Amino acid sequence: MRGRHGKELAGKIAFVTGSGRGLGNTMALRLAELGAHVAVHDLSPTETAKYGEAKSLADVARQIETMGVKSAGVTGNIGDKAAVARMKQEIEAKLGEVEILVNCAGGDIGATGNKPKPNNALDISFEDIKVLTDNNLIGTMLVCQAFVPPMVKKGSGSVINIASAAAHLGCSPEVVYSTLKAAVVHYTRCLAKELYHDGVRINAVSPGPTKTARFQATRVTDPDKMDAAKKSFDRYAEPSEIADAVAFLAGPRSKFINGQVIRVDGGLTLFPG
Ligand SMILES: NC(=O)c1ccc[n+]([C@@H]2O[C@H](COP(=O)([O-])OP(=O)(O)OC[C@H]3O[C@@H](n4cnc5c(N)ncnc54)[C@H](O)[C@@H]3O)[C@@H](O)[C@H]2O)c1
Repeated sequence: MRGRHGKELAGKIAFVTGSGRGLGNTMALRLAELGAHVAVHDLSPTETAKYGEAKSLADVARQIETMGVKSAGVTGNIGDKAAVARMKQEIEAKLGEVEILVNCAGGDIGATGNKPKPNNALDISFEDIKVLTDNNLIGTMLVCQAFVPPMVKKGSGSVINIASAAAHLGCSPEVVYSTLKAAVVHYTRCLAKELYHDGVRINAVSPGPTKTARFQATRVTDPDKMDAAKKSFDRYAEPSEIADAVAFLAGPRSKFINGQVIRVDGGLTLFPG
């Protein structure tokens, strides 16, 4: 896909939550490559360094600016309504109103800053349930509530919510995380229904297990699944493979795709729905 679509997002203003590192970072760079001005975000200025990726969010914004587009770095908890309102103001002051929103912040990181332990349905702590809900569902909703109304006013915009293959399967462990990602998929459909006449598209991408730094640091990985060049689809995804689906949904090639979920998992979830 790369290279054939030139600067199809030239001049567009994008915001990718959780783009200081991991998948969000690859998505932000991909949108910038296609010509969008991209606001990047993380929980704190140095959250980017937690798994050895960028030194700081400011470095990420500078990297984007070297691609010939504008950038802004904003920090704050997406589960905090006041923080989301402040970040919106900061982005609008520097770049203007957001036209492409990617809700990527989230993950199976609980109250202690690591994976919840225990992480099954009946034993996970209430604190972990609350943090996971803020990070994955409430945060996505609050960011949509803040950034989508100007899109509705303009009559155009594209929102991409990042769910997970885990949203489509019964899972244990990671029960609460999977449940919240399933809710993100359904929220995507409901918001698309709500905005059916308003020109704003809302879609979701469900990645399969993907080789981000956090993914590799927080589990024992299977060496047989690391090779992206192997013929079998029984492997981990590359972050760029997820970012390509996001770029497609952000731009004009997907202009009649709305309320859908694209499962980028090599066929891990081969069933309807
Ligand atoms: N890597 C995978 O295998 C995989 C698979 C399916 C879905 N996903 C989803 O993709 C997204 C990115 O995952 P990743 O692997 O890049 O992980 P990651 O931990 O590297 O990135 C997540 C980012 O979101 C930020 N974040 C989390 N909660 C936040 C909050 N409340 N407020 C502000 N920022 C917050 C983190 O600081 C981080 O920058 C997540 O939503 C995750 O659930 C990942």
